[in-house]
Amino acid sequence: MPLSQKMGWTEHTHERRGHPTNTTILTSDALGPAIRALREGQVVAFPTETVYGLGADGLNDAACRRIFVAKGRPSDNPLILHVLGPEDLEGLVAELPVAAQRLIAAFWPGPLTVVVPATEKVPLSVRAGLDTVAVRAPSHPVARRLIAGLGSPIAAPSANLSGRPSPTTASAVYEDMRGRIPFIVDGGSAEVGLESTVVDCTTQPVTLLRAGGIGRGRLCDVVGEVVIATANSPVRSPGMKYRHYAPKSPLIWVQSTDDAFVRRILPDIVSAHRRWALIAPDVMKGLQASWFYGLGSDDVSAAHRLFDAMRTMDQHNPDAIVVIWESQGGLGLAISNRLEKASGRRVMPE
Ligand code: TXA
Ligand code: MG
Repeated sequence: MPLSQKMGWTEHTHERRGHPTNTTILTSDALGPAIRALREGQVVAFPTETVYGLGADGLNDAACRRIFVAKGRPSDNPLILHVLGPEDLEGLVAELPVAAQRLIAAFWPGPLTVVVPATEKVPLSVRAGLDTVAVRAPSHPVARRLIAGLGSPIAAPSANLSGRPSPTTASAVYEDMRGRIPFIVDGGSAEVGLESTVVDCTTQPVTLLRAGGIGRGRLCDVVGEVVIATANSPVRSPGMKYRHYAPKSPLIWVQSTDDAFVRRILPDIVSAHRRWALIAPDVMKGLQASWFYGLGSDDVSAAHRLFDAMRTMDQHNPDAIVVIWESQGGLGLAISNRLEKASGRRVMPE
């Protein structure tokens, strides 16, 4: 019996360019094989508190290039370097602007990524040829044990195939990455559920490149003003120009949880669809959809569940997916951004 079977691991073989790769899911109490694979320059998926990451030795250019291959990511979209704390940045960042220092002091370890000037020591593949680097200290204990075990920063994007929702569970990673990477470390379901907030600290005031786990209000409390990047901003993230996840079925976002409004417009929205899926607050379970996925009752639970909800509902291949959600402050901007990118149509009260 193979060891993996004895240990209760899952294995899958997938022929790719004639080279089969077994993908093994490791439990988080046995990180040895994952650390050895990282040392050998291989790509390993691992849990963080935001979403799962697709990691490689962040100082090894050849290893980091393998991330782009596994993910199908365009090579001009840079990666985040994951470190244990600001002390790990020495030699990697050319300068730590005051705003970055303050944000790091306030939110690390946690779901905040800062973009700062890089040194030549950061591999070109990690920064996609830019002279800046995105850095973040994750709080997830498994991510931290991997970084410590490797003894180097881990470069990692989210562990989805390019264009798919970020994975929040090991099985979602497996769905996208089987046969493409040797190991997935299972750390349970990611707590935040949405990616980190990305802040460009090379501008004054700083620029919010991606809304995420830390709300804009909390950033403003620390650095005063925060400008939001748009498609036309002078600074923007390379990632902003790429298509983001949209499910196979048309997604209609009802941006109101007002009961009377929902009951009035829903029949019209779903009349054309025989099999439709509903993603909505738990209390709307009674609405007659073919499939229902409850987002809970607040933004924290909605953020935690949204990507899993979209992946799960997409698997049913419904004629349409209706999402009923209205966010307030905090994580609200991050949730709304993801829904905007995934939806073809948005309905809200006048
Ligand atoms: O929560 C997260 O941030 C997760 C976990 C694994 O840490 N990672 C993640 O990585 O979401 P990724 O690659 O999917 O998103 C990183 C974003 C991309 O939009 C990328 O363009 C941007 O950060 N980025 C990375 N380096 C940058 C840089 N030097 N300048 C501007 N944007 C950068
Ligand atoms: Mg991503």
